Amino acid sequence: MSEARTRIEDNLGKNEIYAELKEQAETNNRPVSRRNPLGAVAAARSPDAATRTERAAAIRAQDEGLVQGYIHKTWYKPVTVSGVELKLEPLQPGIGTVVHGIDLAKDLDDEMVAFLRALWLERRVIGFREQQHLTPLQMKAFAEKFGEVQARYGEKGHEPNTPSVGHNIDVQDVPEMLTIMADENAPGAAANWHADATWQEKPPMGSILMCRESPAIGGDTCFCDCYAMWQGLSPETREKAEHLTAVHVGAVIHQMDGETPSSVHPVARTHPETGQTTLYVQQGFVKHLHESHGIPEEEERAMLAEMKGQEGRLEYTCRFSWEEGSIAMWDNRAVLHSASADFWPYSRYMERLTILDYDEDRRKPYYRP
Ligand SMILES: [Fe+2]
Repeated sequence: MSEARTRIEDNLGKNEIYAELKEQAETNNRPVSRRNPLGAVAAARSPDAATRTERAAAIRAQDEGLVQGYIHKTWYKPVTVSGVELKLEPLQPGIGTVVHGIDLAKDLDDEMVAFLRALWLERRVIGFREQQHLTPLQMKAFAEKFGEVQARYGEKGHEPNTPSVGHNIDVQDVPEMLTIMADENAPGAAANWHADATWQEKPPMGSILMCRESPAIGGDTCFCDCYAMWQGLSPETREKAEHLTAVHVGAVIHQMDGETPSSVHPVARTHPETGQTTLYVQQGFVKHLHESHGIPEEEERAMLAEMKGQEGRLEYTCRFSWEEGSIAMWDNRAVLHSASADFWPYSRYMERLTILDYDEDRRKPYYRP
């Protein structure tokens, strides 16, 4: 045992409050309360565990094999998939993993794709480094391993046609690619919590973002775990939310022939692949609950405030720093994201593809507990 550990244990051994807490925990063996973000994250990572010890064991098992590597000072788990040696660097305990050691232009056989998909579902967002050699067409080929690439905002035939820098930059060979750019002259960043294009009837299942040029520092993208957001709500709100729908309204730049698109989606959403419940509400596009519920204005405001208050809690989030050639692929059904608008006057130039589920029955959000 290290010297510091010995000292800690010595101190705790003399602390009566600690002794009482420990005894209570051991006696009742109940999972940590979800009113505490620690408890919500733990519940999101191990939803099926009934007891505290079971939940702790399940999370320890997920993290087993983490060793201290030498990519600066980070932790990573070594794993060999289809003959390729990978290092998995977790960004935060419950969310986000960077996969090191892969070349997305060639290391994509069925075994690797299955591995990445499982990792993506488990960690909500996965990142890659040093992929600058991928052409837009190769990036599209990568995206197509996971879902159907349709239009710049997902659904074909529902494409914004307002003038905007991003809409007006065409990427050679890949018309589905959206360019997200900002520099000294055209400042901007999607710096609010949202999932992409939820104003669509069938919003994109996933998004794949490639950084072609980044500020040396800043402009990170942050992700927030919607399972933990759901777990973190009060039981009363969770119970009410199960029966509610909300109205998702696009922004001005999403207008189609002058009309702002909007869609109605369940507030509690069942993830079609994991079966877990997510909170499908966000400040980006959710304007109000659907009128048909007849909820008094004040109650609605309080409920939405509680839901949106879950966004961006540090314990639910991870942060991905961009370098030229970095790629992030996230699950829009299970995370929100927000850019960090801290990099002006530097340039940030990104290319984004969105994907829809190949299974058409899973495209429209639903709640089936
Ligand atoms: Fe976005």
